[in-house]
Amino acid sequence: MFEIIEKLSEENQSLEIWCSVDNGLRLLSERMRKGWQRMNDLFDIHCHILPCVDDGAKSMEMALQLLRMEWQDGVRTVILTPHYRLGMFETSMERIWDAYDELLYRARGIGMDLHLGCEFHANMDMADTLEARERPTMAGSNYVLCEFSESSDLAFIQERGYHLISRGFIPIFAHIERYTKLTEDFDLIAELVDMGCRMQVNAGSILGKDGAATKKFCRKLIKEDLLHFIGSDAHDVKTRIPLIGSCSEYLKKKAGRVYTGKILRDNPSMILTEKYRR
Ligand SMILES: [Fe+2]
Repeated sequence: MFEIIEKLSEENQSLEIWCSVDNGLRLLSERMRKGWQRMNDLFDIHCHILPCVDDGAKSMEMALQLLRMEWQDGVRTVILTPHYRLGMFETSMERIWDAYDELLYRARGIGMDLHLGCEFHANMDMADTLEARERPTMAGSNYVLCEFSESSDLAFIQERGYHLISRGFIPIFAHIERYTKLTEDFDLIAELVDMGCRMQVNAGSILGKDGAATKKFCRKLIKEDLLHFIGSDAHDVKTRIPLIGSCSEYLKKKAGRVYTGKILRDNPSMILTEKYRR
């Protein structure tokens, strides 16, 4: 008789699988241990996989390929976030719902849990637009993925964050590593977080795909515990691909398994439980 025992390693916060043999314990093979360590319940809360509605996936086939790539990365829940930006991305909700319904149907063999959201470029009517349900929140929750321009000034970012919160929404600032004025001011990021804003960076930025300075900023954000979400921001299968799997492995090495689970699973799962109450 032998018994399999799972325990959390205190040293590197990884799950170890032990087998009781000959009145002693033996750590199972490295290969099996690594297999168990791989996280297979991750979320991607920011991507442009919904086909033919913005500058993301250009066909249903590409969308399905992207979902398969996400699945191989250990992602099991995806919130699809097509752009909404006045004057640039104004695809009708009817077309978006049509694309979403078709994707749900065509992707049923993959097994991914799919939800609809939106990457909402900040404007002066955003709360009204959301309350009128002219654009979706994140998976029908109070969370709103909110994008700014790279050159947006701090006062605008702060005011729009406050505006959404005062109307009962929880803003998630999309890829904050891009907003040069914000990246220079960690005190302001901390103030925004205290106010109730949540911060998202892209998986590629953490991995250094956007340069060393951006990678360094992400590392500091993690160290200061000011990061809440990571998204792939995937647009296609060649250049802007989903990188959640590599990012989770990197994060596990640098920040530990518990932290990785918090950012890539626990925090995103709160979006699904925080249903829109009005
Ligand atoms: Fe995006």
